[in-house]
Amino acid sequence: MENLLKVKQLKKYFDTPGGTLHAVDDINFSLAAGETLGVVGESGCGKSTLGRVVLHLLESTSGQIWFEGKDITHVSRSELRELRKKMQIIFQDPYASVDPRMTISAVIDEPLRNNGMKSRSEREEKVAELMELIGLAKRFTDYYPHELDGGRRQRAVIARALATNPRFIVCDEPVSALDVSIQAQVINLIMELQEKLRLTYMFISHDLSVVKYVSTHIMVMYLGQTVEYAETGDLFAHPVHPYTQALLSAVPIPKLGAQKQRILLKGEITSPIDPKPGCRFAPRCPRACEQCHQEIPALREVADGHMVACHMV
Ligand SMILES: Nc1ncnc2c1ncn2[C@@H]1O[C@H](COP(=O)(O)OP(=O)(O)OP(=O)(O)O)[C@@H](O)[C@H]1O
Ligand code: SF4
Ligand SMILES: [Mg+2]
Repeated sequence: MENLLKVKQLKKYFDTPGGTLHAVDDINFSLAAGETLGVVGESGCGKSTLGRVVLHLLESTSGQIWFEGKDITHVSRSELRELRKKMQIIFQDPYASVDPRMTISAVIDEPLRNNGMKSRSEREEKVAELMELIGLAKRFTDYYPHELDGGRRQRAVIARALATNPRFIVCDEPVSALDVSIQAQVINLIMELQEKLRLTYMFISHDLSVVKYVSTHIMVMYLGQTVEYAETGDLFAHPVHPYTQALLSAVPIPKLGAQKQRILLKGEITSPIDPKPGCRFAPRCPRACEQCHQEIPALREVADGHMVACHMV
């Protein structure tokens, strides 16, 4: 399968008063058209930063990014403009990503106008088409964002993201701010759109059951690094890294009578500023030994397409 997106040794460091913060620290992956990469890990592990760097919303510190076979690590202003049409993002909070003074149709119309669709009637037609596509009734056209419930507001945001016919979308916690009762509807919409429009996603979430449902592949991140990467079924059937095992042990299993021991992690995630040598998970790892505190474990393939960074595996 052709790679739509490929990322190699991607890093994003921030200079902070306390030192250099390693938000994204040597990430590698590739994604074929139509696939979904689920990205999971605790708050602050670098998920959003990774998504933003891939989209050029933030400039990387180092590393390379390819999209549609082209090196897009460094792009000119005009190239970036073209890229923006093809790569989009949907955020957690639809309130923060829409102008409250714009009506829903104006919100969806904005990218059309900005991308040179001059004819007003053509744009109106496209807005109506997009609203139908994401399941928002015509009567909401002149509503303001605050007049819609969270689910409908997020639908409008999705419609806007689709206006320029993108191929790749970063979904950054797209349902986390929604009522549980409507989360499933929006997730199903996101998946239907993928089928219909052959979209490729990076799906960021701290909710493993959501990630399991939507992703073809999963990357587990810890303090800016990948600790495990595998196809979804494989990761859930054979989690290898102690951190992944702990995360999965906290997810309820629907199978009746299934039992599992919850692994409780001691302590907080450590600081991403000037990280110490050794495995970044060592301070919390139940299996840590001397070597773990000295040497950084490399990400290695332990089975076909299944990568793990741990000395004990
Ligand atoms: N502009 C910035 N300047 C300095 N540090 C930043 C900046 N943006 C993010 N960080 C830091 O980078 C690290 C990764 O943050 P990021 O938002 O990517 O994490 P996340 O995994 O998306 O977390 P969450 O699940 O809470 O959304 C954090 O330590 C954060 O404080
Ligand atoms: S390398 Fe050591 S500390 Fe890190 S996850 Fe593996 S066993 Fe735990
Ligand atoms: Mg985030």
